Amino acid sequence: MNELIIHPVGALRGSVPVSGSKNAALPILIATLLCDGPSVIGNLPGIRDVTLTLRILARLGCTVEQMDDTTYRIDPTHASAPISAEPLTERLRASAYFLGAFLGRFGRGRIGRIGGCDFGGRPIDQHIKVLSALGATVLVTEDGVEVCSEELKGTSVSFDTVSVGATVNGILSAVRASGETVLYGAAAEPHIDDLIGYLNRCGANIRRAGQNEIRIRGVRRMRGCSYSVIPDMIEAGTYLIAGAATQGAVRVRGVNPAHIAPLTRKLKEMGADVDEEEQAVSVFAPGRLYGTRIETQPYPGFPTDLQPQMTALLCTCIGTGTVRENIWRHRFRYTEELRRMGANISVREDTATVVGGVLTGAEMTVPDLRAGAALLIAACAARGDSHLYDVGWIERGYEDFVGKMGMLGASVTPI
Ligand code: EPU
Repeated sequence: MNELIIHPVGALRGSVPVSGSKNAALPILIATLLCDGPSVIGNLPGIRDVTLTLRILARLGCTVEQMDDTTYRIDPTHASAPISAEPLTERLRASAYFLGAFLGRFGRGRIGRIGGCDFGGRPIDQHIKVLSALGATVLVTEDGVEVCSEELKGTSVSFDTVSVGATVNGILSAVRASGETVLYGAAAEPHIDDLIGYLNRCGANIRRAGQNEIRIRGVRRMRGCSYSVIPDMIEAGTYLIAGAATQGAVRVRGVNPAHIAPLTRKLKEMGADVDEEEQAVSVFAPGRLYGTRIETQPYPGFPTDLQPQMTALLCTCIGTGTVRENIWRHRFRYTEELRRMGANISVREDTATVVGGVLTGAEMTVPDLRAGAALLIAACAARGDSHLYDVGWIERGYEDFVGKMGMLGASVTPI
C-alpha cells in the first residue's frame, strides 16, 4: 500500500479495538533473547516493525513460531551473536535494543545503522553511557554499532536526559550482570514497566524505586514465560483525536484509561465529553472544539507521539492553539503538508502556533509514522478528497489503520 484516497464523510462514529503496544512489543520481543527457554508473547500488534523484529530474531537463530493472529513463540536456545551487522536493523529504531540484549546474552554483537522516523537527529549518547558504565566497549562506525564486554558489572547510572531507548538498553544489559544496577533519571513510560513485567516473570529482579529510578539486581539465569503486551496508548489516542477532529463520537476498547489521561484531560479542556470505563474510553465532540496549549513531556506528560495528531485537531478548532515540542524539536515537518490543506500554522523553533479554521482536501506526502496518522485525521476533517502518498510509514506502527478507520465510518481507499 503506497497511496490512500480519503473522502470525508463528516463525523466519525463507532468503536475500535486497540491493538498491543508497538513500543512495548518491540523491547519485549528483543528481550526474549536473554532467556534460556522459549517465551510465548501475546497481544502483538500486526504491524511492520513487529514483523521486522521477528525476522531479525529468526535470522539470529531463534525459532519463531506463530501460535495465533497476535501470539508468537520465540525460542532463543540456538541463537548466536551476529557475525556481520544485520541489515534489517537499519529499518527500525528499536534495533538499538539489540545492543543491550546481545551484551546480556552473548557478551558481544553488532547492528547496522539504527533506523526509524527522522526527527532531525536521534542521538544514542545515553545508550552508550549506560552500556559503557556496565563495562561494555561500544564502537560506533559509519556502518553501525558494535558492542563487547568481558563481564557486565552492576553500577549506578544517572541519565542526562530521560530516554526510553537508553532505559531499555540499561535494563537489558543489567538484567544478567553481576550485582545491582541503579538507573536514575530513567523513563517512566508504561511500555518500560511492561518490559520490566515480562523480565520479572522470566525470573529477573527489577523494581521501580521511584518514578524515575529503576533498581535491577542481576540474575544468572532467566527462563522464558508467557506474557501479553499492554494495549497501545498512542493508537487509542489517535482514534480518539480522529473522533474529536470530525465532531464525532469514538470509543476505543481494550485500553488502560490511565495511560491516556494526559490526552483525555486536554480533550475535556477543549470542550469534548470524555467517558472512561475500566478498559475503554469514549470521546464525544458536540461541535468544533476550542484551541488549547500542548506541551510534550516524558510520561506522565503529554506524549510526543500524539503531538502531530493533536496539531491536526487544533487546525479544526475554534481559536488559536500552541504546541510546544520538548522531546523531538524538529518533529514539525508534517506541518508543511497540513498547510497544503489550508491550515494556518506557523512554526518557530520548538513551538507551532495553529489558528483553527476550515481544511480543504489536498495531495500530501507522509514524512513519518505519527505524521501519517495526523494527515489522515486532517483529511477526514476536511472539505473535499485528499490523496496521501508514502503511507507505508503508517503500517509501521498502526495495525490495519484503513480497516479501523472504516469501523468508524471513514472512507479511506488504498491504491
Ligand atoms: N536522547 C538523547 N540521547 C540518547 C537518547 C535520546 O539525547 O542517547 C534524546 C532524544 O534526542 C530525544 C529524547 O532524548 O530528545 C527522548 O528520546 P528517547 O530515547 O526517549 O526516544 P527513543 O527511545 O528513540 C521512543 C519511541 C518513540 C518516542 C520516544 C519518546 C520506540 C521504538 N520509540 O524513541 O516513538 O517518540 O521514545 O517517547 O519506543 C513512535 O512510536 O512514533 C516513536 C517515534
